[in-house]
Amino acid sequence: MPKLFVTRREVFSASHRLYNPDLSDEENDRIYDKCNNPHGHGHNYTLEVTVRGDVNEQTGYVIDLKELKRIMREHVIKMVDHKYLNYDVDFMKGIIPTAENIAAAIWNQLYDKIPGGELYSVKIYETENNYAEFRGE
Ligand code: NI
Repeated sequence: MPKLFVTRREVFSASHRLYNPDLSDEENDRIYDKCNNPHGHGHNYTLEVTVRGDVNEQTGYVIDLKELKRIMREHVIKMVDHKYLNYDVDFMKGIIPTAENIAAAIWNQLYDKIPGGELYSVKIYETENNYAEFRGE
């Protein structure tokens, strides 16, 4: 059976600060520059979740996208939307919330919750031009 890929996009707004407590303030400034602003700053993030699987012969679907939307909203969006990612989100505690680390944290939230197909990729767009992708590898 050929594998197909389906993707659902959701958006959320959140704030973050890029800061590594193991580094000096000077090093944090040098590495993260404006993103190290002590009181954080916001982004309108776009999340794209891609599921890979066989097409179900009865439905013609890999996964019902209404169901994928529900899963993404329940396990990710409602926890991160209008939150400060460094402090408010249990599944991001202890990580530096770069797009890379956010994508990996969301992968961990979702990988065992996809019925029918398998999670293939999680993309986080921090801006229109910059995104990070995690495929669980
Ligand atoms: Ni930022």
